[in-house]
Amino acid sequence: MRKEKLTILSNLPVAAAIWRLELATEDPGREVDGEFVHLSVPGHFLRRPLSLCEVNPGRITLLYKIVGEGTRTLASLPEGTILDALTDLGHGFHPEACRQEALLIGGGLGAAPLYLLARRLKAAGKSVTAVLGFNRVEEVVLDAAFCTLCDRVEMTTLDGSAGRKGFVTDALEVLELRYDYFYTCGPMVMMKAVCALLPGSGEASLEERMGCGCGICYGCSIPTAQGPRRVCADGPVFKKEDLSW
Ligand SMILES: Cc1cc2nc3c(=O)[nH]c(=O)nc-3n(C[C@H](O)[C@H](O)[C@H](O)COP(=O)(O)OP(=O)(O)OC[C@H]3O[C@@H](n4cnc5c(N)ncnc54)[C@H](O)[C@@H]3O)c2cc1C
Ligand code: FES
Repeated sequence: MRKEKLTILSNLPVAAAIWRLELATEDPGREVDGEFVHLSVPGHFLRRPLSLCEVNPGRITLLYKIVGEGTRTLASLPEGTILDALTDLGHGFHPEACRQEALLIGGGLGAAPLYLLARRLKAAGKSVTAVLGFNRVEEVVLDAAFCTLCDRVEMTTLDGSAGRKGFVTDALEVLELRYDYFYTCGPMVMMKAVCALLPGSGEASLEERMGCGCGICYGCSIPTAQGPRRVCADGPVFKKEDLSW
């Protein structure tokens, strides 16, 4: 874990209530590691955890949805604002767990960390199929980026305004998809349904309310097959077989 100051390079809306936040690290050559950052938002006591979507030396990109007061304040912050952040947090997906064919299943902004994973899988020479689900076309993000990167991309929306109508699990039931390992991120109910539906091994990136974000307070503990585990420090990515849901 590192405590550092991140400067807002840009903070712009990209879809309905969804913003893209680009941040510069203090060290222009430093590559941020980990799965998520814990951002301090001015005027709010607790930090907000947000997943890394893109990582480049000296800068990171996050996508966030405005759901409450903290993210609403975040969206109001202009370029040049300096944010206090905890970085290099969490244990992420394991690209090496996939032999050759990866299946990524994202729901909403669960697509953000999966995009970073897709880049890592492609860099390792693996084939990547992505199934991305959104509520409606106005909330679709990263579709062009996934299409450019992945071997196959399928999209679903609940109202049928883009891609197939329905849930990602509806698509998974009818599509013939080749994979030897799957990775999922999105609403808990979606990930639980995905893990129940898909045979074989995989991983899910969980969300839990956090206090410290770095393993001290145990506020984010969940039951697992290995006993209680902290989502921030032991996760947020867990193997399917370890999850008790
Ligand atoms: C590891 C991790 C990665 C995440 N990545 C992203 C991401 O890339 N993009 C994105 O839009 N959201 C992400 N979230 C969810 C995001 O943290 C919440 O949407 C955000 O904290 C809400 O803050 P708020 O003040 O607007 O909402 P409020 O409801 O006002 O928040 C009140 C408190 O509850 C916490 N909280 C509320 N919803 C959640 C939630 N779903 N998960 C965890 N804490 C929550 C807040 O952090 C805050 O402490 C992630 C959550 C976790 C745990
Ligand atoms: S939030 Fe404190 S241990 Fe995870």
